[in-house]
Amino acid sequence: FSLIRSYHEKVIDHYERPRNVGALPKTDPDVGTGLVGAPACGDVMKLQIRVDEHSGKIVDVKFKTFGCGSAIASSSYMTERVRGMSLEEAGRIRNTEIAKELCLPPVKLHCSMLAEDAIKSAIKDYKSKRSIASL
Ligand code: FES
Ligand code: FES
Repeated sequence: FSLIRSYHEKVIDHYERPRNVGALPKTDPDVGTGLVGAPACGDVMKLQIRVDEHSGKIVDVKFKTFGCGSAIASSSYMTERVRGMSLEEAGRIRNTEIAKELCLPPVKLHCSMLAEDAIKSAIKDYKSKRSIASL
């Protein structure tokens, strides 16, 4: 019994071939940036969304995660999920769904929480930018 085998292959896949790694220009008016940390371990995740102002849908998404494999897999999975979603839909994604999809063990639940916090924080940043722009 190896430790690796206790991880679901989807985690390994997202960890080895993370989707949408990178950054969007933070100062673009249609980009929202979420930067969050996990108090449990100090890992950090940055997740950015670009929103089409007419449709209100997320048209691009990038992340950078300085953390464990489960955090990287959770953020990679999150970026795939939210592309094309409205902000409301994206804001409703719960970490428990991610954990279930990736079969994360209980000690790795907080890693998926990082992805939920990051998307919420990106949405909040986008909305506050928009409200400043419309003043
Ligand atoms: Fe070390 Fe998360 S605690 S990578
Ligand atoms: Fe802390 Fe995964 S984010 S161990």
